[in-house]
Amino acid sequence: MINERKVAVVGCGFVGSSSAFALMQSGLFSEIALLDANAEKAEGEALDISNGVPFIGQTQVYATDYDGIMDAAIIVITAGAAQKPGETRLDLVNKNVGIYKSIIPEIAKRGYEGILLIVSNPVDILTLAAVKLSGFPENRVFGSGTVLDTARLKSKLGEHLSVDGRSVHAFIIGEHGDSEIVAWGSTNVSGVPLDTFCEMRGHYQHMEAMRQIAEDVKNSAYEIIAKKKATYYGIAMSVVRICRAIVMNEKSILPVSSVMHGEYGISDISLSMPAIVGRNGVETHIPIVLNQDEQAKLEKSADTLKTIAENAGL
Ligand code: NAD
Ligand code: LAC
Repeated sequence: MINERKVAVVGCGFVGSSSAFALMQSGLFSEIALLDANAEKAEGEALDISNGVPFIGQTQVYATDYDGIMDAAIIVITAGAAQKPGETRLDLVNKNVGIYKSIIPEIAKRGYEGILLIVSNPVDILTLAAVKLSGFPENRVFGSGTVLDTARLKSKLGEHLSVDGRSVHAFIIGEHGDSEIVAWGSTNVSGVPLDTFCEMRGHYQHMEAMRQIAEDVKNSAYEIIAKKKATYYGIAMSVVRICRAIVMNEKSILPVSSVMHGEYGISDISLSMPAIVGRNGVETHIPIVLNQDEQAKLEKSADTLKTIAENAGL
C-alpha cells in the first residue's frame, strides 16, 4: 500500500542528503526514508536533517532498508559515483550501471508500485537501465533529465533580459550533458518572441548572446565541480520541483528524461523532452516546435546516448 506522503532517497551522498534536506523543508512529505550502502551515513544524515524538522513542522526522517521504502510514493535514486574534475557524466556509465544492477532488482523483486525518480549520472542512460532492470511501466520510471539545466537557462536568460526567469518559457532538451540543446525556436518571454524581448531590453547581438548563454549553461556543472568538487543544491531543488508535480498531481510540463517511442523521430533511448508530469508520473510528451538545426542536434544527441547505452549492454 503506497503512502502518498512518503518519499525515499537511495544514496545519501552530497546529492541525496541535499535532496532530503530540501524535501524536508518543502513540507510535501510526512515521512522521508533514507537508504545508503553505507548504513551509518544514512543514519547520520537522517539524524542531522531531523534536527531541522522542529523549524518546519512534523516530518519523520529516518534511515531504513529496502523493505522500509516499499510504501514510498516516490523513490529518488541518487546513488553512484559523481564526476571528478575533468570527467564527463558519460564517463560514469559503467560504474553506475553496475551500482544500478545492485539497487533496481532489490526494488523490483519487492513489487514496488510507486515512482522511481532517477538522478544519478549519466541520468539518461541510468533511466533506461532502471526501466529495463525493473520492468516497471515506463510512466513510473523517469529521470530528472534537463530540469536543472532548464532552470539554469531560465535564470541566465532572466539576468540577461532583466526579467524574472520564471517568466521565461524555455527548454533544454536531449541529453543531460554535453550534447544538450536549447530549444530556441520555442523560447519566449510570456508569449513575446525572444528576439522581440531582447530588442525591447536594448540587446541586438542575439546570436552571440544566446550562443554564450547556452555554452555557460552546458558548462555550469564543470565550473562548479572544478571549484568545489560536486554540484548538489541545484539538483536538490530540481528534485523537490519534480516531486511537487507528482504529489500535487500538478500535470506540470517539465523536461524530464523518459524513454522515447518515435516522438520527434527518436526511439529506444531515454532523453529529455517536455512532458506532462503528475500523480502517475510521465503522462505524455508535448509536441514543441523544433527548427531544422534543433531537430538534427536532437537526433545526434540521441545517437550519442544510444551508442553509450549499447556499449553498456543496455
Ligand atoms: P557521493 O559520492 O557524494 O554520493 C554517492 C552515494 O551513493 C554515497 O553515499 C554512496 O555510499 C552511495 N552508494 C553507492 N553505491 C550504493 C548502492 N549500491 N546502494 C546505495 N547507495 C550507494 O556523490 P554525489 O555527489 O551525491 O552524486 C551522486 C550522483 O548524482 C552522481 O552520479 C552525480 O553525477 C549525480 N548528479 C546528478 C545530477 C543531475 O542533475 N541529474 C546533479 C548532480 C549530481
Ligand atoms: C549537474 C550534474 C553534475 O549539476 O549533472 O548538472
